[in-house]
Amino acid sequence: MALEAGDGGTLEREGTGACGKGDGPCEAGALLKEDASPRDDEGALSGVHRLRELSRVPPGARHSKWSNMLIHGDNLRALEALTAQMKRGRIKNADNTDGVRLIYIDPPFASGQSYRDAKGRLAYGDKRKGDDFIGFISARLTLLRELLSEDGSIYLHLDWRMAHYLKVIMDEVFGAENFLNEIIWSYGGRGAKSVARQFSRNHDTILLYRKKDHIFNPVVVEKKIPRSSGGYRLDENGRWFKTAPRGDYTDKSIERLEKEGRIYRTRTGSIRIKYFLREEKGFLIEEKRVGDVWDDIPDAMHMGVEEKTGYPTQKPEALLRRIICASSGPGDIVLDAFAGSGTACLAAQKERRRWIGIDSGALSLETIKSRLERSFFSCAKARRSGEDSFAGVITPYTLFHVD
Ligand SMILES: C[S@@+](CC[C@H](N)C(=O)[O-])C[C@H]1O[C@@H](n2cnc3c(N)ncnc32)[C@H](O)[C@@H]1O
Repeated sequence: MALEAGDGGTLEREGTGACGKGDGPCEAGALLKEDASPRDDEGALSGVHRLRELSRVPPGARHSKWSNMLIHGDNLRALEALTAQMKRGRIKNADNTDGVRLIYIDPPFASGQSYRDAKGRLAYGDKRKGDDFIGFISARLTLLRELLSEDGSIYLHLDWRMAHYLKVIMDEVFGAENFLNEIIWSYGGRGAKSVARQFSRNHDTILLYRKKDHIFNPVVVEKKIPRSSGGYRLDENGRWFKTAPRGDYTDKSIERLEKEGRIYRTRTGSIRIKYFLREEKGFLIEEKRVGDVWDDIPDAMHMGVEEKTGYPTQKPEALLRRIICASSGPGDIVLDAFAGSGTACLAAQKERRRWIGIDSGALSLETIKSRLERSFFSCAKARRSGEDSFAGVITPYTLFHVD
């Protein structure tokens, strides 16, 4: 049944979902009907492509306002369909701002390889090179920028092959003034990856940009230190602390820190800053704000069996949870347009965000579906047994195909 005329398309619904009942904003079950004009994959977008609802998880679920979206098909088409939905006010963050708050993309890296799972099934080919690769990503970045809320952030995950060329493209699409950081994900040693007459390559580059403004929640990690380690002192109130040089603190800041009891004077009279540590079960706990070199998250080869999906280029959940926590709030929408094994979708769910995942690969879809199903059922089981896992966080989703 046709509901309303869209921006260059018609909203329709298949089956008997709530959206078909008519008024009010349409749910994720809406279909965006395309004009049937043929199009070039990377070329100008001529028509609006259609999101065809295939199924709901759990089966028959009725989604009142929002349903997470898993979209199978080419992401250029899917992004165009989503942009049309956003323009009609159907994609909104927790604070009602239009668009998605966070985009993470981990596209092919121009490696020239084909990636297969352990059973030899093809996940995807990564054969685009040079201009072809840059054109492919640029076309998608332009649509991704449109979909991003005004204070949204985008993380583009690449490696040594293309990161520097894409930095220039990101400057063009998002504006050099909106570059926030280059994150080095140093995933640790991999014997097979080391290059014999070279330093071994063991980091990926993640470029972080914003649209116009951005939100940022600092990420803090805790380090456990045996109490017996040197360099830590007890103050007159029985609190453990360590000190660091004054650095570039101004006199005014020093005055403030003095009032807070955070100034330590050495025997020679020089000023150092006190950092207090918590004590827990015989250990001192040091809190450290995460910077732009992330060397505390091992890669997929070192993941636990419960996390491994077998998808060849799966990224660790910890990496995505960090990104999601830093640049979005609960209830915001996280978009991954190269979803692979669905790490960003699952991480978003666990962090109480909503999500949209897109991938064109059949193996990717199969992997994401079974990964979400496993967490859905483990969640239900945990809830029944009263365990405090992420029970209650898992929400249903709708599976679409983009034509
Ligand atoms: C590096 S993998 C993503 C891995 C993912 N981050 C994870 O943790 O599993 C890149 C993915 O991009 C998908 N892909 C490549 N071209 C695409 C396109 N045009 N549209 C949608 N997905 C695409 C591939 O199928 C592949 O799953």
